[in-house]
Amino acid sequence: MTTASDIREKYLNFFKEKGHAVIPSASLVPENDPSVLFTTAGMHPLVPYLLGEKHPSGARLADVQKCIRTGDIDEVGDYCHHTFFEMLGNWSLGDYFKKEVIAWSFEFLTSEKWLGLDKNRLAVSVFKGDADAPFDEEAFETWKSLGIDEKRIAKLPKKNNWWGPAGDTGPCGPDTEMFYWVGDPDKVPESFNDDSPFWLEIWNDVFMQYNKNLDGNFEPLSQKNVDTGMGLERTLAVVNGFDDNYKTDLFWPIIEKIEELSGKKYQGDLIKAMRIIADHLKASTFILGDEKGVAPSNTGQGYVLRRLIRRAVRYGKQLGIKLFTKEIAKVVIEMYSRVYPELLKNKDFIFDQLTQEEEKFEKTLEHGLKEFERGTSPFILFTTYGFPIEMTKELAAEQGKEIDEQKFKEEMEKHQDLSRTASAGMFKGGLSDAGEENKRLHTATHLLHQALQDVLGVEITQKGSNITAERLRFDFTFSRKMTDEEKKKVEDLVNEKIAEKLPVQKIILKKEEAEKTGASHAFGDKYGDEVSVYFIGDSLETAWSKEFCGGPHIENTGDLGHFKIVKEEASSAGIRRIKAVLE
Ligand code: ALA
Repeated sequence: MTTASDIREKYLNFFKEKGHAVIPSASLVPENDPSVLFTTAGMHPLVPYLLGEKHPSGARLADVQKCIRTGDIDEVGDYCHHTFFEMLGNWSLGDYFKKEVIAWSFEFLTSEKWLGLDKNRLAVSVFKGDADAPFDEEAFETWKSLGIDEKRIAKLPKKNNWWGPAGDTGPCGPDTEMFYWVGDPDKVPESFNDDSPFWLEIWNDVFMQYNKNLDGNFEPLSQKNVDTGMGLERTLAVVNGFDDNYKTDLFWPIIEKIEELSGKKYQGDLIKAMRIIADHLKASTFILGDEKGVAPSNTGQGYVLRRLIRRAVRYGKQLGIKLFTKEIAKVVIEMYSRVYPELLKNKDFIFDQLTQEEEKFEKTLEHGLKEFERGTSPFILFTTYGFPIEMTKELAAEQGKEIDEQKFKEEMEKHQDLSRTASAGMFKGGLSDAGEENKRLHTATHLLHQALQDVLGVEITQKGSNITAERLRFDFTFSRKMTDEEKKKVEDLVNEKIAEKLPVQKIILKKEEAEKTGASHAFGDKYGDEVSVYFIGDSLETAWSKEFCGGPHIENTGDLGHFKIVKEEASSAGIRRIKAVLE
């Protein structure tokens, strides 16, 4: 069996023989490039050189670049689309052009010395021309001269045969794509049809001769470049004659691990779930383990990572596996760390982040899925149960339903306007966990309130409170700075109540009755005839803390962790402000 290392090595050796310098893979997180979240192709890190800057290694380069693409994420689960993949690439920076690169691509693919693929199963496409650029006759003629039948050379429009970076501007140009017939080898069609799933695209040679500027015009570049990209996963499958990329050594050890953990086989209905788990957790391991590693969050790269991990965890449910992400990451690190040593270097970060994210999501997943079944809105599923909107959409689609994304957006905007401060914090720490986190901090606020009354005197009253994903803030009437000893006493008392694992309960009472219980009222609030009172303790009578409050709260103080005051300061005359966290 041909391995991934065999192909990486052959590719780089081939281009070394053709005078190329081999350069290392760049980070998955692009440098100074706001147009994309991740490196999506080998050309990304080379943009300055494609635009004319001199590359220190010369005008002919080759590499194996790690890439993340999320544009095709809905297709992941089939046999050939991946979130993380490796792109084999070679570049000419104003050096060779179409004829040379097409001839080399053909040689590498078909020569017995190299990949030895069957010429008769090869087809290509070239740019057909439009108002911006003419038909690519040179590419067409070059393929013909190499023996590719005209019927196997499709002339296609920009949509198919034009390549530029994911952003709106930058170097771009017509390309020629190479396809290999992966259907029955005895039934290779005479002509090429790009709609057939059996013609699998494996390599793309781009002729970067334009720069698309901000006005949308295509300016000829001062130097003519070549940018190529061959997908390692697909090429490896094709060379081995496999009809499934997951059966190659770039995936199979992960699939075997999933089989082992679940006690189920890679077959039938389970194939899709196993592929998604393998794909997403490999990608997550690479994002976390990158030189510029990213942690899960609710914006940018962190959000993509969060989606990948949570989607894998959700598919894990289908296989009946839990708390498995770290086990998969171990396999990925083992498979790849010789080529990408950063994975080994960052393994603790990878394990910690995966485990934390998975545990967080596990807590709300089951409940959230029930809520989804009951028709709960995507907004609540996001804010309270941590369901990325894309996941809710996917769940709905599985039942042939659609969700109202516009409404979700509006609710999110409203939510953010209503709690600007809170959302600033949430976006840093994770809005999707805000439901759980907020509840914990809210319960801690009640404990703090009562502890302050116990330590400083019952006359202290609440003047306001605010919670973000990271901390609570509590304002109260008190005339002087608290001493260190007082702060310590308050902390100890709260932690004592946490250690006692007290139930947090709610009761709805007529306002008069509620007042009789001695429950505290929040500052300035108006109450209706009936109010809900939250009490912390076994019964209303014996409860240590009682407050008029709408909730929500967690069910038991034992889930709070360790309480710590991080700041005590003056808020305004006669009012003190405490900021505290749960660790
Ligand atoms: N940059 C080209 C691609 O990604 C080679 O297809």
